[in-house]
Amino acid sequence: GDTILQVAHRHDIELEGACEGVCACSTCHCILSDKLYELLEEDGKEASEDEEDMLDMAFGLEENSRLGCQII
Ligand code: FES
Repeated sequence: GDTILQVAHRHDIELEGACEGVCACSTCHCILSDKLYELLEEDGKEASEDEEDMLDMAFGLEENSRLGCQII
């Protein structure tokens, strides 16, 4: 499947992805709706430890923050 980052780029939605999706930056930071965030958790697609570490460096971190390149 495609990541949110790839889908955004295909639709000309501005979302940075400085590290090209390898979880080494936090420029693809997205704040999800409650609904999507919960759906991902239910599907066992919660953030990995690596993603959490990068998220800690993201600007404007919120409860529903995820990295767009890590959501498939
Ligand atoms: Fe770098 Fe997502 S594009 S962490």
